[in-house]
Amino acid sequence: MKISSEEYYSDSEWKLFKQEAAKYQTPFLLVNLDIVKKSYQEVEKFFPFSDVYYAVKANPASEIITLLDSLGCNFDIASIYEMESVLACGVKPDKISFGNTIKKLSDIRLAYSKGLRLFATDSEDDLRSIAAAAPGSNIYVRILTEGTATADWPLSRKFGCHPDMATDLLLLARKLKLNPYGVSFHVGSQQRDVGTWDTAISITKYIFDYMADEGINLEMINLGGGLPANYISQTNPLEVYASEIKRYLEEDFGENMPRIIMEPGRSLVGNAGVLISEVVTVARKSRVAVDRWIFLDAGKFNGLVETWDECIKYPLVCEKADFTCEDGVLAGPTCDSQDIMYEHYRYRIPVNLCPGDRIYWLTAGAYTASYASVDFNGFPPLKTHFIGE
Ligand SMILES: Cc1ncc(COP(=O)(O)O)c(C=O)c1O
Repeated sequence: MKISSEEYYSDSEWKLFKQEAAKYQTPFLLVNLDIVKKSYQEVEKFFPFSDVYYAVKANPASEIITLLDSLGCNFDIASIYEMESVLACGVKPDKISFGNTIKKLSDIRLAYSKGLRLFATDSEDDLRSIAAAAPGSNIYVRILTEGTATADWPLSRKFGCHPDMATDLLLLARKLKLNPYGVSFHVGSQQRDVGTWDTAISITKYIFDYMADEGINLEMINLGGGLPANYISQTNPLEVYASEIKRYLEEDFGENMPRIIMEPGRSLVGNAGVLISEVVTVARKSRVAVDRWIFLDAGKFNGLVETWDECIKYPLVCEKADFTCEDGVLAGPTCDSQDIMYEHYRYRIPVNLCPGDRIYWLTAGAYTASYASVDFNGFPPLKTHFIGE
């Protein structure tokens, strides 16, 4: 498959990426803040019925937090460390939701002392910790969802609980003098089937009705993340996700629409980043081996973790794109045999590729730099440089 930058970036965006990339030594991530802004504005335009909480884990760079804050965005944090960096950017605590259901008591206490009042939960232990350390806070319960088969990066099993347990927890929240505020779910990251939101919203509706019968009026639905970035396989456009999700909400909630929030990560920053790597070695394993191994200076442990099981298939652009191509295996620079990005999925690589040539990993703004190891095999974490704004 031949991949062209034009399918992913405008001419001027691509020129700017290339021009800026020439200034730095590989490997590094280059993020165009103007594209982040554009992505945020698109989400706002297509989802006017929802408040946006950026999932900081996708890319926690202060440049991105500051930009999104200036645009009116809220923030979903996974840890007190993300909380501290978001607060350090000047974000007000009432714009932050603690979305991780796995939290130490001491961390909840710290978050509460900093002014956070919105917490996710999915277990009794966690709920009791919140009651003890963050009295009176707003609680939303995360439910289990379907969607594993159609998400590139599934998030089910580990998070969420059965709807019956969700109602138990919401009732317990009231008993513990917390405010049972709403329901959340995450249908899986890079979710290709928009129908998965339909199922999750129907279950949410059941929980709302059940709680109303118990005298509790829930006020909020958190639609999670899952909206797509542009990788190799096409997805529906964002507006289709938006119009379908709106329809599901209207079908189930009609006039009684609660507050809707969402936590996009990948879809806000994925498209804005290009990871630039360099070929270290090209090798064949025998005189007659068909496959070439292309070893790069970027790998699974310094930015490309989401190639795990070849889940995320980044569009790759080689400088020598005009030459004849053949299949190749793409691997990273460490002495770890897991450090292979693509072996089964066959990327077409130019035959004359040689050490020093650059390979551009498009749509790499999410879950790359923050996912890099700090010192594995001595390689430093992936650097990020910014353009735009
Ligand atoms: C709680 C929560 N919210 C939001 C997100 C962001 O999801 P996405 O990057 O698919 O938009 C994640 C991703 O792991 C998450 O765990």
